Amino acid sequence: MDSYVIFKHLHMTAVVLSGLLFMVRGLWLLQGSTQLQAKWVKITPHVIDTLLLFSAIAMLVVAQQFPVWVHVKITLLVVYIGLGVMAFKKAKTQGQKLTFLLAAVAVYVFLISVALAKSPAGFFA
Ligand code: HEM
Repeated sequence: MDSYVIFKHLHMTAVVLSGLLFMVRGLWLLQGSTQLQAKWVKITPHVIDTLLLFSAIAMLVVAQQFPVWVHVKITLLVVYIGLGVMAFKKAKTQGQKLTFLLAAVAVYVFLISVALAKSPAGFFA
C-alpha cells in the first residue's frame, strides 16, 4: 500500500470519528450534560481533528496537487469550525444551540459530498 492510500484511510477514519463525536457532543450540549466537561471529551476532538488535517496535508504533499475542490474544503472547514464555536461557546438559548449545531452538521455533510464528488459544488454539481 502506498503512502497516499495510508493517509487517505487515516483521513477517512478521522472524518467518521470527528463527525460522530461532534454529534454526540451536540446532543450533550442540548441536554446540558456535564459529560462535556470531561477531560477526554475536551481533548479527543483536537487530537482527531489534528489527524484529519495532518492526513489531508500529507495527501496533498504526496500527490503534489492542489485541486480547486480542496480550496473549497479548506474554506468549508473554517466555516464548520466557526459554527461549532458558535454552538458550543457563544449560543445562549436552546434554539440558538440547535440552529448552529444543525448548520454545522449540514456543512459537514456538504464537505463529505465535495470530497466524494471531487467537485467544488459537491453533489449539487
Ligand atoms: C471536516 C473536514 C473534512 C471532511 C468531512 C472530509 C472528508 C473527506 C472524505 C469523505 C474523503 C474521501 C473521498 C473519497 O472516498 O474519494 C476525503 C478525501 C480527501 N480529502 Fe478530505 N475532508 C475534510 C477536510 C479536508 C481538508 C481540510 C483537506 C485539505 C487540506 C482535505 C483533503 C482531502 C484529499 C486530498 C482527499 C483525497 C481525495 C482522493 O484522493 O480521493 N480534506 N475527505
